[in-house]
Amino acid sequence: MEVLSVASEVYPLIKTGGLADVAGALPGALAGSGVSMRTLMPGYPAVLGKMKNGREVARFDDLFGVTGRLIAGRAEGLDLIVLDAPALYDRPGNPYMGPEGWDWPDNWKRFAALSWVATELGLGLVEGYRPQVIHAHDWQAGLVPAYVKFGPSATLKTVMTVHNMAFQGTFGAEIFGQLRLPAHAFSVEGVEYYGGVGYLKAGVECADVVTTVSPTYAVEIRTPASGMGLDGLLNNRSATVFGVLNGIDMEAWNPATDTALKQNYTANTIQYRQVNKRALQEAFGLEQSTGPLFAVVSRLTWQKGIDLLAANIDLIVAEGGQLAVLGSGEADLENAIRAAAMRHPGKVGLVTGYNEALSHLVQGGADVMMMPSRFEPCGLTQLYALRYGCIPLVSRVGGLNDTVIDSNVAALQAQVSTGVQFAPPEQGALADAIRRMLNLYADEKSWKKMQRRGMKSDVSWATSAARYAQLYAALTGTTLNDNSDS
Ligand code: ADP
Ligand code: GLC
Repeated sequence: MEVLSVASEVYPLIKTGGLADVAGALPGALAGSGVSMRTLMPGYPAVLGKMKNGREVARFDDLFGVTGRLIAGRAEGLDLIVLDAPALYDRPGNPYMGPEGWDWPDNWKRFAALSWVATELGLGLVEGYRPQVIHAHDWQAGLVPAYVKFGPSATLKTVMTVHNMAFQGTFGAEIFGQLRLPAHAFSVEGVEYYGGVGYLKAGVECADVVTTVSPTYAVEIRTPASGMGLDGLLNNRSATVFGVLNGIDMEAWNPATDTALKQNYTANTIQYRQVNKRALQEAFGLEQSTGPLFAVVSRLTWQKGIDLLAANIDLIVAEGGQLAVLGSGEADLENAIRAAAMRHPGKVGLVTGYNEALSHLVQGGADVMMMPSRFEPCGLTQLYALRYGCIPLVSRVGGLNDTVIDSNVAALQAQVSTGVQFAPPEQGALADAIRRMLNLYADEKSWKKMQRRGMKSDVSWATSAARYAQLYAALTGTTLNDNSDS
């Protein structure tokens, strides 16, 4: 079975967040399941630079008013089809914004083109390649299900995965005429959304199956508080909305072999983490203390509850803890953490910017990974933390609820806990959770046991990749030849 995955970022080619990790790992995770997955992505400069042996498989003279071509080939272990359209993608900045931090005004066109090309591939544009399913990720690929629904194919199927309801790709009605959709697609059954055009709305409305990245988020987004306008629509089609938990790439994130660590270790040599802790303290300008080292690796945004964290930094320090923050984002949040670092020299450190290697060292050296998110569709950082013996402290929302076992009385007695959860995502509840964490840290023996349990918990793709394979198979009426070992 051939599935074409469409994503605007794919690790390790280009990444701003968890979407890239998922889009980069899923094709490999499906190996052996009978599903072969190729990935279509935009030809950003960083991506084209990696397509050394690619070959041109299609050309477009009029791709929404610009020229473009498709380059197929392998890079970083992935089977890729890259849309090389310099007028759309040859720009500085990240996939969505210019260097000044503003969304590109023609994002509607950049990602309509991506989705349109995906659909053409599904319709047989390239000889010898005909995917039966297109798997569209997030709003950037949200028009794929609409192009398929309003297009000529009766057999091509679509899966729409929502990684984050907060980003919907909504634009004014004036763009509709340029989308190459028939007039009746501007309707409730199509792309129309509160009088404008909604890309994610279109995907959620038109796809054969909608998935999101954790079972809890799949329930949350069907409520007005978390559905962000799409809850009604999701409720209407609830039988075809599924929560499929993200996994992680167990090779890229393996403390036994990770070259970004100062010292490798396993569940049986957890004490070696001390070496990483010292390196981490150095990297963040912290004193070489043995107190609990709390850490954050995150986009610094309201979603991630960074303001709740900022309001609790004095508490962490007063209790003898340290804090290392790696992230960048909203200026006021960055400033709040920078101010705390000035107030508490040697105890609080901030490194801004994006640093993949340092993010690994944080996981391998910190004691506690904090994710006080207001909402979290899945979250990968807590999964990396579990794998690295860094204890997650998380709010009880979305995928955080599904992946971390809270150290409540019953779980402690049964010796099954892997972290601390708190609710609601508010400053006081976070303060209580920090105090609970400090108590746990004080008991060295049970702390180590909790680390080991986390390291042994299954955060791999095994179960979820099989679930996706099942969904594709059900959609196309295919019986999969499962060759995997599991
Ligand atoms: P989201 O996708 O909402 O940002 P996730 O937890 O799913 O949240 O994924 C975040 C990913 O981005 C993880 O791989 C995390 O390690 C990485 N990350 C976030 N901020 C940084 C940073 N400043 N430097 C390096 N990696 C980062
Ligand atoms: C989004 C979500 C995050 C999720 C990631 C990958 O960025 O915010 O929770 O883990 O997508 O699915």
